[in-house]
Amino acid sequence: MCGIVGYVGKKKAVPVLVEGLKQLEYRGYDSAGVSVIGSGIETVKATGKVAVLENKLGGNDFGSMVGIAHTRWATHGKPSDRNSHPHGDCSGKISLVHNGIIENYRELRDLLVAKEHKFSSDTDSEVVAHLIEEFAKKLKFQDAVLAALNEIRGTYGLAILNSDEPEKIYAARLGSPLLLGVGKNENIVASDASAIVKYTDKVVYLDDGEMAVVGSDSYEVVTIKNKKIQKKIDTLDWSIEQAQKQGFDHFMLKEIFEQPEAVSNAMLGRLLVKEGMANLGGLKDVDERLKGINRIIISSCGTSYYAGLIGEYMLEEFAGIPVEVEYASEFRYRSPVIDKNTAVLAISQSGETADTLAAIREAKSKGALALGIVNVVGSTIARETDAGVYNIAGPEIGVASTKAFTSQLTILALLTLYLGRQRGMSEATGKKIASELKKIPKYIEGILSQKNDIKKIAKKLDKYSNLLYLGRKYNFPIALEGALKIKEISYVHAEGYAAGEMKHGPIALIDKNFPSVFVVPKDSVYEKTISAIEEIKARGGKIIAIATEGDKEIAKLADEIIYIPKTLEMLTPLVAVVPLQLLAYYVGIGKGYDVDKPRNLAKSVTVE
Ligand code: F6R
Repeated sequence: MCGIVGYVGKKKAVPVLVEGLKQLEYRGYDSAGVSVIGSGIETVKATGKVAVLENKLGGNDFGSMVGIAHTRWATHGKPSDRNSHPHGDCSGKISLVHNGIIENYRELRDLLVAKEHKFSSDTDSEVVAHLIEEFAKKLKFQDAVLAALNEIRGTYGLAILNSDEPEKIYAARLGSPLLLGVGKNENIVASDASAIVKYTDKVVYLDDGEMAVVGSDSYEVVTIKNKKIQKKIDTLDWSIEQAQKQGFDHFMLKEIFEQPEAVSNAMLGRLLVKEGMANLGGLKDVDERLKGINRIIISSCGTSYYAGLIGEYMLEEFAGIPVEVEYASEFRYRSPVIDKNTAVLAISQSGETADTLAAIREAKSKGALALGIVNVVGSTIARETDAGVYNIAGPEIGVASTKAFTSQLTILALLTLYLGRQRGMSEATGKKIASELKKIPKYIEGILSQKNDIKKIAKKLDKYSNLLYLGRKYNFPIALEGALKIKEISYVHAEGYAAGEMKHGPIALIDKNFPSVFVVPKDSVYEKTISAIEEIKARGGKIIAIATEGDKEIAKLADEIIYIPKTLEMLTPLVAVVPLQLLAYYVGIGKGYDVDKPRNLAKSVTVE
């Protein structure tokens, strides 16, 4: 989820590019770089924030009026000057910036290395520059770019410079956002409108499979099959702040809506539907050791801990491995019994949570295999674990975790496939899980389209100061997560509880002023959960149900219902959590709170 900007016009390019990067910095901030066409291609890169790059540039604009720039959110290759964009070819004539993932980069890289291309980074992106260079040996540059785009599998937003055409930028999109700001005697390419609004309000949104050839006074758009197309020019009415949020009122809402993409990214190149397996490249180095592991301890905090609880259910049921889940803050101080046949798995969005990091250090000191599921590439936990899997969910800015959670669940499902198939899971079961997992992004889209109905339900919850969240089996942790979300964002007291435990205590709280939110999909414990609903109803409690589409029974019991699609029981948490995130969001904004920065909380808890 990097940020791209490109400029061609009559102004000095460097200041426009640096300014654009600052607006895009929320998309990624581990390193940045810029290339302009001066006497040839001039490239400056720096690890760290855009300000570090700005310092390094020291006001030098190379006299150029055309250039591209990038702020990075690492996916392949750790954050470093070497891995920062732009990336070039061998001749030094091509420079490009890329947002997305090139799935087949390993095979392309091997082919290009065989043709004596020399690579200078560990990124998937650099392969595109060399591929264009290779095609340009026989084709005109524009055709070479198109030929390369047709070879790539994966996703891209690309901006490309060719020093032989010093008044042009090539920009192409597949799965990663890219738009063109149309100005007077200048045009700007960017990942989103925040880098453009300062200069123009006229924009052309590139669609997937399109490439724009952009000059200062004109531009032309073709499909990657080289068919010319006429694009509509839209007018923006966004401020810079709004543009960063891409029209959403808050980062939290934007991130809730990014979940179909975050879940897809987590699976990209990893989920093998036909084979009913998962390919987790990050675990390859420890594959042999994993085969000897007889116990997994998942250790994490907050929302990531709840993801771990669901992981426990998945891994025990389908991979047959004993799993324990423990708060990292407890694990680190209680002398846990672990040995070299134990794997300790840290789940962390930030990769910097102090307690989770301490848990990993404790585990390593006792000889355990330390694994991670981490979103921030190059973070301390990512570096200190022996092996792991990155989320590739992009930066999560809203303090309340949303897209990182569904991405963590996706990776736990992949891990279940990976370890399960190593340990006797049948091919048929593997295929069933894999093909259903593939459908989850579409299911989430369907739930998101009900946002107005969920908003209405949130309005009705406004007057209550206590809520009980209940669920059973795979959805017990979802009840915990739903309660945590509403606590954080709306400062409403909410308790998450196992539906079957409710009768052992919390039921005493129930009256007409204490509603219960039930996660009650049609699964193996449906009838048991319905009994718990009946018990609450009998005591005058209101019921809000998250239920499976087509469930007629629930309509007789619940006061409000939000429907979710039917899926495999182990995957229901991935869909059931989405309405609860939206509910928390709308209750929070209904009360007038800043949901992106709830009081007393920090995004990354680096203290004990
Ligand atoms: C809740 C939330 C926190 C984090 C927790 C762990 O919305 O965001 O509970 O989940 O602080 O953070 P990471 O995953 O960064 O280790």
